[in-house]
Order: sequence, then C-alpha cells, then structure tokens
Amino acid sequence: MNIALIGFRGTGKTTLARILAQKLGMRFVDLDEETEKIAGMKVSEIFGEKGEKGFRETEKKAVSAISGMDGLCIACGGGVVLDRGNIDSLKRNSTLILLTSGEEKIWGRIKGDKNRPVLSGKKGLAGVKELLLQRKKLYEESALFSVDTSDESPEQSAERIILGLRERGLL
Ligand code: S3P
Repeated sequence: MNIALIGFRGTGKTTLARILAQKLGMRFVDLDEETEKIAGMKVSEIFGEKGEKGFRETEKKAVSAISGMDGLCIACGGGVVLDRGNIDSLKRNSTLILLTSGEEKIWGRIKGDKNRPVLSGKKGLAGVKELLLQRKKLYEESALFSVDTSDESPEQSAERIILGLRERGLL
C-alpha cells in the first residue's frame, strides 16, 4: 500500500510526504522528480519545450510506473487529478489524502518561486483562485479525507494524517 498526497501547489505535499515516509518507514517519492527522470528535463523545461500537454503526457507515464510499486509515500504534482486515468491507477494501491490551504496562504508560499510554470490565464492570487475553483471538485472526490495545512506546522499536519489513517484502520 502507498500513501499519495494530492492538492494544490503550496499546500505542503512534498514536505509532508517526506515527514510521513520517515515516520512510517516508507520510501518518499516525488512525482515531479519521476516525471523529470522520464523526460530527462526539469519540469519548467518540459513546459517550455512541450507545453502543458507534453508535461501531462510524461506525468501520466510516471504515475503508471509508480502505481505498480509498494510502500511509497508519494508527493503528487498539483495537476495529477486532471486526468481521471491517473486517479484510477493511483487508487489501485494508494490511499489518496488531500492537503488544502487558504488561497492567500498558498499564494504567499508559491509567489517567490520563479521556477513554477504559470498554469492559468490569470496571474498572481487571481490565477490561484481560478485554478482552485476549476480543480476543487476533482481534488475532493479523489481523496479519502483531507487535512487543512493553513495554520499548523508540518509536524502537526503529519500527526493528523497518521490519526486519520489509524481511525480508518489503514495503519
Ligand atoms: C502543477 C504543479 C506542480 C508541477 C507542475 C504542474 C499543477 O507540482 O507538477 O508545475 O498543475 O498544479 P507541485 O504541486 O508539486 O508544485
């Protein structure tokens, strides 16, 4: 069984997947890194050369490769939920947990990172709001449960995820 963290950029997926992997004796895997390995390029370069469509195609290959593995704690890319097939493959042997955060918090966390490709027509906080609106339903219906990381430390969020898994008999 794997644990897969989904949710928007800046909700803490990578940080929390690392902490959970360590606490639960699992292996940390970052889906963006797996996508980069397949493409032989950085995420921003894939977007630059092949556009979002090219990125999504490679991301899908990475999802199907890790879906066959076990004992992983996976930090998914924020857009993994856009492809129904990705969610179906992940669900076969992963528990999907959604991380959420307030829009302003998200924008505050990601605005300084120049390497993140711009994904929507609008920029800045308005772009975050637009994409969240488009994806909210997909995030929510894909996950078993969600944890809001807006106002607590990664350590506290990790404990709440572990509790959520225990309450459901998954740990
Ligand atoms: C994306 C999020 C990114 C990365 C790519 C697309 C998205 O991952 O996969 O830039 O569509 O939200 P993080 O959520 O890890 O930043």
